[in-house]
Amino acid sequence: MADGTWYDADIDRVIVSEQQIREKTEDLAKQVAADYRAVESVLLVGVLKGAVMFMADFARALGRYGPKTEMEFMAVSSYGQGTSSSGVVRILKDLDRDITGRHVVIVEDIVDSGLTLSWLRKYLQSRQPASVEVVALFRKPDAIKVQVPVRYVGFDIPNEFVVGYGLDFAERYRELPYVGVLKPEVYARS
Ligand code: IMP
Repeated sequence: MADGTWYDADIDRVIVSEQQIREKTEDLAKQVAADYRAVESVLLVGVLKGAVMFMADFARALGRYGPKTEMEFMAVSSYGQGTSSSGVVRILKDLDRDITGRHVVIVEDIVDSGLTLSWLRKYLQSRQPASVEVVALFRKPDAIKVQVPVRYVGFDIPNEFVVGYGLDFAERYRELPYVGVLKPEVYARS
């Protein structure tokens, strides 16, 4: 962990370190590259804003091993400013183009209740892609409310609210290079 950053004082403990994220991203990219070696190209669909860090690092890793990739972004919302899932999914930004016949890989930061991903998977499936799979860097197995197939999972983590590496609390902490849990007083003062 870097010394003297503004956020270190707010972090109770690190759950997954920067190096662990880097190594896992490389592993996931190798797995996806192996599974898609016969296809012309893969369309990565990143889910803003949380997946932005993972999307950038995963796409670069995939570029080293895999088929050609293209990137699309969607923004959906199932959370307000708080820390629990509302279950209501709203499209804030849709795909910019047709995905018919494409091999789609959804790039997700975290699967918590699974509600967002379950909805997104169905939404993308309805647009006649050749295939839809999911790569999620984090998953909270104990928080799952709907079963949704996630072919590639980075880390199963405890059912706690985490921040960092794209994940926010009230739009902050996304820039942390690791993932950690906030000190209770951070919530108390917000
Ligand atoms: P789900 O629909 O409950 O699976 O949650 C989906 C979205 O909620 C994720 O893509 C994240 O953006 C956000 N989210 C879930 N858990 C956390 C967390 O622990 N910290 C920050 N954001 C989270």
